[in-house]
Amino acid sequence: MPDAALHNKMAALPQDCALVAALGGRSIVLVGMMGAGKSSVGRKLAARLGLPFIDADAKIEEAAGMSIPDIFETRGEAEFRSGEARVIARLLDGGPQVLATGGGAYMNPDTRALIRAKAVSVWLKADFDVLMKRIKRRTDRPMLKTADPATTLQQLMDVRYPVYSEADVTVESREVLHEVIVEEILDRLRAALNAGMETGLEKLP
Ligand code: S3P
Repeated sequence: MPDAALHNKMAALPQDCALVAALGGRSIVLVGMMGAGKSSVGRKLAARLGLPFIDADAKIEEAAGMSIPDIFETRGEAEFRSGEARVIARLLDGGPQVLATGGGAYMNPDTRALIRAKAVSVWLKADFDVLMKRIKRRTDRPMLKTADPATTLQQLMDVRYPVYSEADVTVESREVLHEVIVEEILDRLRAALNAGMETGLEKLP
């Protein structure tokens, strides 16, 4: 079955349709550390809701015409961050969609404000051991190209977790099937929307 047809079929659950309707033009934005599973969970969440999935990192690479490691290497982190903020600002006008952001994106206060205004945010929170295990599988992450990646990871977590906690909902990312995480995201989003979340989103019928 082609992807789009599968998405439509899977979005047919009435409670999922209601959630998508309540989003209006807003996106569901996934935030969290490298290795938290934003892209893999995001893809499944999008399929379930029949929404497009967008990976902000892939769009940054597309806009720059080079890979993220190459952007860091040739232009530096500061330039990567300003490009990242510009790309995400543009993408946030394209909702409803599921948008996975790179681990540093939500640290930018302007990006955070835009996400608050135009999206509903989900922090995929993972503990150190889970992240470390997953991060070891990939060696191309410029932020962790340090003498001691484990210490760097812990330092980034210390700085970022208080900021990530500003997201509208938090879900523990752990070693379970992605479908389990997707279900929890949907439950928390429904609960938040029903509770009249401060994002200005309408309550579910
Ligand atoms: C970064 C995370 C990466 C990517 C870039 C910087 C970070 O994305 O945006 O390497 O600062 O945490 P993922 O979180 O998708 O790995």
